[in-house]
Amino acid sequence: MTAASLEVREVSVGYGPVRALNAVSVDVPEGAVVAVLGGNGAGKTTLLRAVSRTLRFHGGTIGSGSITFAGRRLDGLTPAEVVAAGVVQVPEGRQVFARMTVADNLRAGALGARGGRRAAAEARERVHELFPVLADRAHQRAGLLSGGEQQMLAMGRALMARPRLLLLDEPSLGLAPLMADRIAETVREINARGTSVLLVEQNAAIALRLASSAVVLEVGAVALAGPADELAASDEVRRRYLGITDDAPDGTTGPDGTAATPGVPVGAVAEPAPTAPVLRRWSA
Ligand SMILES: Nc1ncnc2c1ncn2[C@@H]1O[C@H](COP(=O)(O)OP(=O)(O)O)[C@@H](O)[C@H]1O
Ligand SMILES: [Mg+2]
Repeated sequence: MTAASLEVREVSVGYGPVRALNAVSVDVPEGAVVAVLGGNGAGKTTLLRAVSRTLRFHGGTIGSGSITFAGRRLDGLTPAEVVAAGVVQVPEGRQVFARMTVADNLRAGALGARGGRRAAAEARERVHELFPVLADRAHQRAGLLSGGEQQMLAMGRALMARPRLLLLDEPSLGLAPLMADRIAETVREINARGTSVLLVEQNAAIALRLASSAVVLEVGAVALAGPADELAASDEVRRRYLGITDDAPDGTTGPDGTAATPGVPVGAVAEPAPTAPVLRRWSA
């Protein structure tokens, strides 16, 4: 059996004349949580749309590169076939069916999924275990839920398709910190139950806590990639994505006043340079 890993290789995407991704590669090994960081317009959503084959609904096309999941090419499939293959996207901004009930939103998520009615009933049970509020509110209109509850519903709806890989687009966006933390916990829980996750987040602190590895996109290209703990320790990520500024801008003194290696940014790993760079850089 082929491991259910996602391999995105040198994918370039355009919206008409607008180049949104430039030879982007990212791997999600089976069972992993991989984070995609980057500012507004960096191409994070575009990357997820390329994987889920929903680009064309937004006027986008893949110019070159390949995307495989579990050894099978996804490029060429329809969005429904991608779902049936086990890859399901939770879109940016939740996009629940506001006028439908919570229960019907979940039912919609099971359409086109693998397995029959029994599988759907089991999936709903698991979703209710994960998000009890969705059982409590089953007969309410989705539009009446809070932002956090709508995010839970969007994730629950995706889980109804019993994905092997979940594509999550900014699940914490617009949520209060406590709710964002709760969503993060459920991502961990979903992953612990065997679903891999490709997690797009502007909240780098949350993402790097959850992920084993991460890529940073800048203007449609991979600027940094590596293990999450190394990225979290890198000066550039701390400054630009975690909002952490050290006391000594020249990098010669740590925040506690202790001397660091001259020329090595505080927080970066100084050894065993220069032969083994901490982060692989494809472009600056
Ligand atoms: N439907 C679209 N049509 C044209 N350009 C788009 C469309 N969606 C996104 N873009 C452009 O593609 C780039 C990447 O956007 P996006 O993937 O949404 O970034 P992110 O999710 O990182 O904020 C941006 O320059 C954005 O303006
Ligand atoms: Mg986006």
